[in-house]
Amino acid sequence: MLQEITITRPDDWHLHVRDGEALNTTVPHTAATFGRAIIMPNLKPPVTTASEAAAYRQRIIDARPTGSNFDPLMTLYLTDRLSSEEIQKAAAHPDIYAVKYYPAGATTNSDSGVTAIENVYPALEAMSDAGLPLLLHGEVTDNHVDIFDREKRFIDTILSPLLERFPDLRVVLEHITTADAAQFVAQASSNIAATLTPQHLMYNRNDMLVGGVRPHLYCLPILKRNIHQTALLEAATSGNPKFFLGTDSAPHAQHTKETSCGCAGCYSAFAAMSLYAEIFEQADALDKLEAFSAFYGADFYGLPRNRDKIVLRKEAWQVPDAYSYLDTDLVPLCAGQTLNWKVVDYV
Ligand code: DOR
Ligand code: ZN
Repeated sequence: MLQEITITRPDDWHLHVRDGEALNTTVPHTAATFGRAIIMPNLKPPVTTASEAAAYRQRIIDARPTGSNFDPLMTLYLTDRLSSEEIQKAAAHPDIYAVKYYPAGATTNSDSGVTAIENVYPALEAMSDAGLPLLLHGEVTDNHVDIFDREKRFIDTILSPLLERFPDLRVVLEHITTADAAQFVAQASSNIAATLTPQHLMYNRNDMLVGGVRPHLYCLPILKRNIHQTALLEAATSGNPKFFLGTDSAPHAQHTKETSCGCAGCYSAFAAMSLYAEIFEQADALDKLEAFSAFYGADFYGLPRNRDKIVLRKEAWQVPDAYSYLDTDLVPLCAGQTLNWKVVDYV
C-alpha cells in the first residue's frame, strides 16, 4: 500500500481568507501547503477596484509566516456598476487574475452582487476581449426556486445563454455541486472549467441532515443528494483538465454557525490536501491527485506550474475541535476526527 507520495506543490483556485485579524489564522494555514490561491473578494465592503485588490494583497502577504513564498492571486467583485474601464485596468494589473460574479443575495457578503446579468454585459465584453476569467457562483436566487435546484437553474437560464453571447469568455463554474454541472462543464468548450471542494466530494445532504442538523457542513451551494456526490467524484478523479482544486475554505466564527440562522461555509484550509488525498485514495485515484491539485488550474489560468514539491505521508492525525479565530473559535471541517494523510515535508 502507498505510504508516501511526492507531488508538485498544489494551488487553491478558490479561497476565502477574510481580512484584518482573521488573516493571522487563515493565511498561515493555506500558505503551509499551497503555492498560490485565488482570493475571493467578498469582503465588507467588497473588493471592486484594482487598487483595493492590490492593498488587500499586501495585507495577506503581511500575514504570511516568515520565509513563505505563498502568492495570493487577487480577484475583483463584479457589481452592476463595474465599468469596462475598471476591467481593462484589472486585466492589465499584475496582481489581478479574475473577476467574481455573485448573484445579489446568493451567499455570504453578496448584497453588492449582480442583480441582472444584462447589467454586466459591458464588463463581460471587456473581460472576454482581455481574456480575464469570470468566476461564477452559479446559483439563481429567485425565491420560488428550491435551494436544491438553484445550480441547475442557473446553468439553464443564465450560463448557457451567457456562453452563447460570449463564446470566448473564460469561465470557471465554482464549487460545483451537481451531476448537471459536471456534465455541462465536461461538454462545454475548452474555455469553461470548474472547481471542486472537499466537502462536496466527501458528503451529501444526508450527512448534513440525517440524525440531526450539522451546521458545519452547511455551505453554499448546499450539499446535494448522493448521486450528485458520486458524479462530482467521478469528475474530480477523471483526469479531465477542466476539473481542478478549489477548496472554498470559508471561515465563520463558531457562534455564527451554531445558531438559529447559521452562516454558510466550511473551513478546510488547515488540512485541504489531507482531505483531497483521502478522497482520491478512497476512489482508487491517488495517481490523479497531482494533476487535479497542481497542474490543471495553473494551465487554465495560463500560469506556470509550481516547481517545488510537497510530500504527503499516510499518517493518522487528529483534527482539533477548534482553531482560535479572532477572539473566538473556528470549528474546522472534520473537527475532532482522524485524518489519514499528512503533509510532512517540502522539497
Ligand atoms: O458557503 C459559502 N461560504 N459559499 C459561498 O459562496 C461564500 C462562502 C463565504 O464567504 O462564507
Ligand atoms: Zn467561495
